[in-house]
Amino acid sequence: MKVIVVKDKKAMGKKGAELIAADMKKKDRPYVLGLATGSTPEPVYAAWVSMCKKGQIDFSTVITFNLDEYVGLKPTHDQSYRYFMNDKLFNHVNINKKNTFVPDGMARDIETSCAAYEAKIDACGGIDYQVLGIGSNGHIAFNEPGSSLGSRTRKVKLTANTIKDNSRFFKSMKDVPKSAITMGIGTVLDAENIVLFATGANKVKAVADAIEGPITASCPASALQTHPNVTFILTKDAATGLKLMHQS
Ligand code: GLP
Repeated sequence: MKVIVVKDKKAMGKKGAELIAADMKKKDRPYVLGLATGSTPEPVYAAWVSMCKKGQIDFSTVITFNLDEYVGLKPTHDQSYRYFMNDKLFNHVNINKKNTFVPDGMARDIETSCAAYEAKIDACGGIDYQVLGIGSNGHIAFNEPGSSLGSRTRKVKLTANTIKDNSRFFKSMKDVPKSAITMGIGTVLDAENIVLFATGANKVKAVADAIEGPITASCPASALQTHPNVTFILTKDAATGLKLMHQS
């Protein structure tokens, strides 16, 4: 486990974007990216947009799988995660949108749709690099505390804490969806490499629990401690709860 502390969000975005771009260059085949939403990875996507304009990164053969999507929001809803990805990244880089996948929050048969999502990831050869944020309660994707560490893509109920955190993006609390489809913790752990980004004082406890706490379903991000290739890129304000020296 590598822990990198940077001064601000812009530095975090640049570091993360370059880390993944370097891995993309090493692989001479369609690259499979796992992507996250939330405000935290926005500087990473902004850095990729700028690198792409300068010809420093090529998305033409990249395949992407997003972590999660709200149940009941159409892809055209401005708070859906599909809309977010188009708006922040896909509309501004040379990616083929047919190669971008987000769980279907409108699926009639959610179970079949989740199994098909897992099968599609497998068929593409698995995820090369998974981008993660972290919830203030330690969730990754929408795997809330109490999620099984081996869980797969499925429908989950959101906790009151997450609904409150995410209400800032909606007109009112009642507009926030109460359930979502999310890759499982087991799905995330199958990625070859993982990078978790965190920023802001409200993430201090979640970050410290994830990196230095016990591995427990009470903090889903703590499961990352079992992964051989995980990097945490934190801004200074999110890292103040760390006490140990992290070497690898
Ligand atoms: C949502 C997403 C998570 C994300 C979290 C934190 O719940 N499902 O993937 O990590 O929000 O969001 P933010 O980065 O805006 O703090």
